[in-house]
Amino acid sequence: MPDTVPAGATHAIYELMNTQRAIRRFKPDAVPEAVIERLIFAATRAASGSNLQPWAFVIVTDERKRKTIAEALKSLFEARGALVDPSTIEDPVRRRMMQGVVGLFSNFAQAPVTIIPCLVNATSPAPDGLVAGSSIYPSVQNLLLAARAEGLGTVMTTPQTGIMDTLRSELDIPAEATPVAVIPLGYPAAPFGPVNRHPVATFMHWNGW
Ligand SMILES: Cc1cc2nc3c(=O)[nH]c(=O)nc-3n(C[C@H](O)[C@H](O)[C@H](O)COP(=O)(O)O)c2cc1C
Repeated sequence: MPDTVPAGATHAIYELMNTQRAIRRFKPDAVPEAVIERLIFAATRAASGSNLQPWAFVIVTDERKRKTIAEALKSLFEARGALVDPSTIEDPVRRRMMQGVVGLFSNFAQAPVTIIPCLVNATSPAPDGLVAGSSIYPSVQNLLLAARAEGLGTVMTTPQTGIMDTLRSELDIPAEATPVAVIPLGYPAAPFGPVNRHPVATFMHWNGW
């Protein structure tokens, strides 16, 4: 990365990206509506195929509704046996992550906001296969980065297919909209910090693999 910044450019976004860790513990403090609106503004500035903007964001602040979703998630993960006892994991990094995951899905409603991004009537690109998400996930990433910029924690989670009936009935999500993630949002009770990734050279293939 060059260390001088040309006029009109800013490198602040690299710092945000490098410290936008998965946050799985939240303070109970409410998130102001104006801040949430800025996050959705950021999300909805993303690109989409043919600029169809095939998205909707269901923002759940209502405690009863959040608890219903949280209970559905807890039941789902218990039924799948996905919440492994962290003390059985030897690797300390994986053990800490599982502690976070168990804490999150045991009490998803601890976060004061749950956001459900939905893909709506997507026709460009074709709504099937691997590219189906390409008109919604850029907007989700915008949202996650904007949250980091606001000092808010999030973690991308994708258990929505396992709780689809609950999401549709509790939140009146119509048939043409498909939830694509379930994102808790709140002021973090765990620190932001550098993400743990392989060196960039691992992933680069100049002029061919
Ligand atoms: C598609 C996707 C699905 C994910 N699903 C979950 C999930 O179900 N539960 C969870 O706790 N974290 C989930 N995560 C968060 C990742 O586990 C996390 O981002 C990754 O371990 C790297 O950690 P970091 O973001 O703190 O650097 C998901 C992330 C992505 C991109």
